[in-house]
Amino acid sequence: MTKDIERVLLSEEEIRAKVTEIGKQISQDFHGKNPIFIGVLKGCFIFMADLMRNVDIPCSMDFMAVSSYSGTSSTGAVKINKDLSEDIAGRHLILVEDILDSGVTLNYLKQYLTVRQPASIHIATLLDKPARRKADIQPDYSCFKVPDAFVVGYGLDYNERYRNLPYIGILKPEIYS
Ligand code: IMP
Ligand code: MG
Repeated sequence: MTKDIERVLLSEEEIRAKVTEIGKQISQDFHGKNPIFIGVLKGCFIFMADLMRNVDIPCSMDFMAVSSYSGTSSTGAVKINKDLSEDIAGRHLILVEDILDSGVTLNYLKQYLTVRQPASIHIATLLDKPARRKADIQPDYSCFKVPDAFVVGYGLDYNERYRNLPYIGILKPEIYS
């Protein structure tokens, strides 16, 4: 598996240190607010699991699963494959994503959830790839900015592979070209 990786971008140690810091920061910022962390599957699963173990305030968790409608990237429409099971009216939401790339997915989700009148919506992303942003959206919490390259590992996939790598690496271009 690692033979497919061009280079390690973020080591396990670097990720652990930063995720710990962001978890502490969120705990301070949302003290007394009983937020709901909403993981966007599947890419969020490792980040969310590590982040939550560094959050030490009362909170709850839920998950959504989304996919892009093929051929509609211009409209930004996203298909909801799994919706929330909790009522979010009046609650503080923290959307947890693996990577903010074009921003189309999170922009859509934010609008989709706003209709249910939560008290606030914040975004916590493991990675931010600002070079490819199309939607007008920025993360409130971001662990790392990454260059415009295809990255995998620590939850991020290419065709459902590599999610189980414990680090984040740049995939060799010959794998996806
Ligand atoms: P966005 O709507 O363009 O922001 O896309 C976000 C989704 O695209 C992420 O949740 C990932 O699933 C996927 N994605 C974007 N860039 C990468 C990458 O470099 N590696 C793996 N997945 C990516
Ligand atoms: Mg994803």
